[in-house]
Amino acid sequence: MASFSFPITTTAFVILLLSLTSNVFNNSAAKHSHSSSVKGIKNPRLQKAYIALQAWKRVIYSDPNNFTSTWVGPSVCNYTGIYCAPFPNNTKLQVVAGIDLNHADIAGFLPEELGLLNDLALLHLNSNRFCGILPLSLSNLTLLHELDLSNNRFVGPFPNVVLSLPSLKYLDLRYNEFEGPLPPPLFSKDLDAIFVNNNRLTNVIPSNLGSSSASVVVFANNYFGGCLPPSIANFANTLEELLLTNTSLSGCLPPEVGFLYKLKVLDVSNNKLAGTIPYTIAGLAHLELLNLAHNMFSGTVPEGICVLPKLSNFTFSYNYFCEEQGICSNLTSKGIVYDDRRNCLPEKPLQRSKKECDAVDEHPIDCLAFHCGT
Ligand SMILES: *[C@@H]1O[C@H](CO)[C@@H](O)[C@H](O)[C@H]1NC(C)=O
Ligand SMILES: *[C@@H]1O[C@H](CO)[C@@H](O)[C@H](O)[C@H]1NC(C)=O
Ligand SMILES: *[C@@H]1O[C@H](CO)[C@@H](O)[C@H](O)[C@H]1NC(C)=O
Ligand SMILES: *[C@@H]1O[C@H](CO)[C@@H](O)[C@H](O)[C@H]1NC(C)=O
Ligand SMILES: *[C@@H]1O[C@H](CO)[C@@H](O)[C@H](O)[C@H]1NC(C)=O
Ligand SMILES: *[C@@H]1O[C@H](CO)[C@@H](O)[C@H](O)[C@H]1NC(C)=O
Ligand SMILES: *[C@@H]1O[C@H](CO)[C@@H](O)[C@H](O)[C@H]1NC(C)=O
Repeated sequence: MASFSFPITTTAFVILLLSLTSNVFNNSAAKHSHSSSVKGIKNPRLQKAYIALQAWKRVIYSDPNNFTSTWVGPSVCNYTGIYCAPFPNNTKLQVVAGIDLNHADIAGFLPEELGLLNDLALLHLNSNRFCGILPLSLSNLTLLHELDLSNNRFVGPFPNVVLSLPSLKYLDLRYNEFEGPLPPPLFSKDLDAIFVNNNRLTNVIPSNLGSSSASVVVFANNYFGGCLPPSIANFANTLEELLLTNTSLSGCLPPEVGFLYKLKVLDVSNNKLAGTIPYTIAGLAHLELLNLAHNMFSGTVPEGICVLPKLSNFTFSYNYFCEEQGICSNLTSKGIVYDDRRNCLPEKPLQRSKKECDAVDEHPIDCLAFHCGT
């Protein structure tokens, strides 16, 4: 797998906050700091954070690792998982800039009051048992840069509130129970990474997918169905990793996949894709991992792919390929991990039966018949 550096460490958020907020904050907040205080908190921004965090604590029903047991009293910056940073133009003023409750195993939900955390740049809630839906008040978090809600129990339609976050770059919703379609505006947002794998998403991959500027897109393990839209070609300038395993894709792989010249990882395994491998893939000079396994691909495995300079793992087992061109028949000799089992390769062991292979031979694939658009 190509390395990918998100999410950034919590120590980096101070720098992040400074760079994000320099034109947002002004000194007026500092002037208001004499206003009424909550339990002895003079800083109004921390007062709001106190209200938000106490409201949150009230709807936390299980906290086996005692993360929130320190959430008492006015020193919100000392609460476990809460990170403060100085207010850019008034470095004596602290604000809550990050929340990191990753792997806390907390059960509860997210209250409306989280909308009071206006200064939040990072919200990491990976691997908890938060449930329900996201409060609409999250749209108040105009500085939020990273939102990681992965591995929780959020339900309902795709949380459109994330589309209203103007600073969001990193969106991780994987391993939840979001259902229904992905909203097309998701791909018009200036995001670096989109993880929506392992949900219950349906209704095909939006055809404006290629408008995105993300470098990593993981759709795996959902029920999208339909074709991979040829407009994916528009994604060429940023996309490095595209993971589409087990997304009920059908039709043929569009030749436009080969226009994604930055691609390092392409995984379309465990779908119902048919037809031949588009020869354009032989142009993906950075491709390291190619997984076509468990589909209905047929025809020849072209040598142009097998000689790609960066290729280190090429899996095409469980298809109906009937020929491996040249070096493709033994990639081990090139130091490439490969798997060609369960195809229709006459010279190889562990292939499909003649009966299975003949059945596919008799029904040639017409990719245009799938009506996947242009
Ligand atoms: C904050 O400080 C920076 C650097 O001193 C300055 O350029 C900027 O105008 C200030 N912003 C506001 C809103 O006062
Ligand atoms: C959390 O606190 C409870 C009660 O004080 C204690 O029994 C339990 O061992 C603590 N759990 C952990 C993981 O520290
Ligand atoms: C926060 O914790 C630090 C270290 O434990 C302590 O020195 C500091 O006084 C605490 N701040 C407040 C406001 O309680
Ligand atoms: C949004 O932020 C403003 C400013 O802090 C606050 O007054 C308001 O109550 C917040 N809205 C919600 C829904 O939390
Ligand atoms: C495929 O995706 C569905 C939907 O998320 C999931 O229920 C199923 O377990 C996945 N299958 C595999 C083999 O991961
Ligand atoms: C090669 O890729 C396949 C499919 O993506 C994966 O299951 C396997 O672990 C990889 N092998 C190595 C050695 O990286
Ligand atoms: C592939 O090549 C390697 C090294 O050149 C050799 O050891 C191996 O037997 C070959 N495998 C097949 C299936 O021809």
